[in-house]
Amino acid sequence: MFAASLSLGLALLPFVSAAIIDIQVGAAGKLTYSPEAIGAQVGDQVVFHFLSKNHTVTQSSFADPCGKKDGGINSGFQPVPANTTGNFPTFTIEVKDTEPIWIYCAQGVRTANSHCGSGMVFAINCGPDGAPNSFTNFKNSALAVGASLSAAASAPSTTAAYGDYTIAPAPTPVPVTQVITLGSSSTWTTTYSSYPNSPAPTPVSAEGAVHRVVVGGPGNLKFDPPFISALPRDTVVFEFRQKNHTVTQSSFDDPCRKLNKDGLTGFDSGFMAVADGATEFPTWNYTVTDTAPVWAYCRQQTPASHCGAGMVFAINSDESSGRNFAAYQNVAKALNGTAVAATAPSATAAGSGASSVRMGGISISLVFAAVIGLL
Ligand SMILES: *[C@@H]1O[C@H](CO)[C@@H](O)[C@H](O)[C@H]1NC(C)=O
Ligand SMILES: *[C@@H]1O[C@H](CO)[C@@H](O)[C@H](O)[C@H]1NC(C)=O
Ligand SMILES: *[C@@H]1O[C@H](CO)[C@@H](O)[C@H](O)[C@H]1NC(C)=O
Ligand SMILES: *[C@@H]1O[C@H](CO)[C@@H](O)[C@H](O)[C@H]1NC(C)=O
Ligand SMILES: *[C@@H]1O[C@H](CO)[C@@H](O)[C@H](O)[C@H]1NC(C)=O
Repeated sequence: MFAASLSLGLALLPFVSAAIIDIQVGAAGKLTYSPEAIGAQVGDQVVFHFLSKNHTVTQSSFADPCGKKDGGINSGFQPVPANTTGNFPTFTIEVKDTEPIWIYCAQGVRTANSHCGSGMVFAINCGPDGAPNSFTNFKNSALAVGASLSAAASAPSTTAAYGDYTIAPAPTPVPVTQVITLGSSSTWTTTYSSYPNSPAPTPVSAEGAVHRVVVGGPGNLKFDPPFISALPRDTVVFEFRQKNHTVTQSSFDDPCRKLNKDGLTGFDSGFMAVADGATEFPTWNYTVTDTAPVWAYCRQQTPASHCGAGMVFAINSDESSGRNFAAYQNVAKALNGTAVAATAPSATAAGSGASSVRMGGISISLVFAAVIGLL
């Protein structure tokens, strides 16, 4: 009986269960997918009809609604000339499993005109209303990204902590509530401050990953690599080479002094003197607690300021913004260097160092202590 109905079901599956679900993209010139959330069965075809403007169907993740998922679905841009009346471009997703599929429009991404940031998102098989991974929560977090991008675009530049150097505006974080899953068993909900282009908050494991950063060495007044992308719980192992350096936390607009404001005190390795002939190198470890940018420097000033020479370091700097690593280094050189930089930091001038760093994702100031307590 069971076997009979099972084989019947399997035989009929390709014919009875594959539905075609039509989605309008940009109907009436609006920045929408309609409907904006659907349930679909394995084998269903979801056909997107591009009706106006120049949109995409691009896969993201719940954690990072306006960021492209590595290897994810992507229609590319589908421009539709004004007054087109027929032959609209289409793009089809075949549903392969019942996992949620999160989609956004990549037009204007990371700008104040981001379609995703104005709520142009779509989901297949999302959680029901009230569930942490509901469509409403997904769309709200896309809107939060948009609000932050608009705020950053309109925020005024500020001036450095001393001197009269101009500093790129700080992004405005937006509170987001999100479910974090670690491994197969630990899941918790957290509320964090979110802003564009930092990694997702999900730790890689309870222990985190290990990042090695070489500090100094013969003729090297630098951290290598100079900036990294790291997740909560990751360990950054600073390996001190020749000379006498520190790694000390500061802030973007005051790069060469230890962080000490708003109740926050920066970390400091202390001086690590390493003899010229040394073959063993001391380490000092820092555990990453959230995905907000962390700025650091070497506080050696003998015989000259290492920080002013550009010996600075960053974790989770937003490399697509005016507050990227190179901009930070410019502030350090301008404030504490011998040659005062002539120009203000700019987002475009500084993009070159970005190649080695994983980009994308939402930046999160995760309350790490609370997370540990919940695991
Ligand atoms: C569509 O948008 C993309 C990204 O903004 C742009 O590169 C492309 O030129 C646009 N296409 C048309 C025909 O406007
Ligand atoms: C589209 O149609 C409107 C109304 O007929 C017309 O005013 C407009 O110029 C047309 N636009 C283009 C690009 O053809
Ligand atoms: C390392 O540098 C600090 C600060 O300049 C200095 O006080 C300390 O004596 C130095 N250590 C060694 C071993 O040179
Ligand atoms: C830093 O972490 C590394 C790798 O986990 C470990 O080998 C090293 O001993 C640690 N250093 C210190 C000072 O704890
Ligand atoms: C940078 O300059 C400021 C202001 O003169 C000074 O207080 C600070 O100690 C300097 N820091 C370094 C590492 O040179």
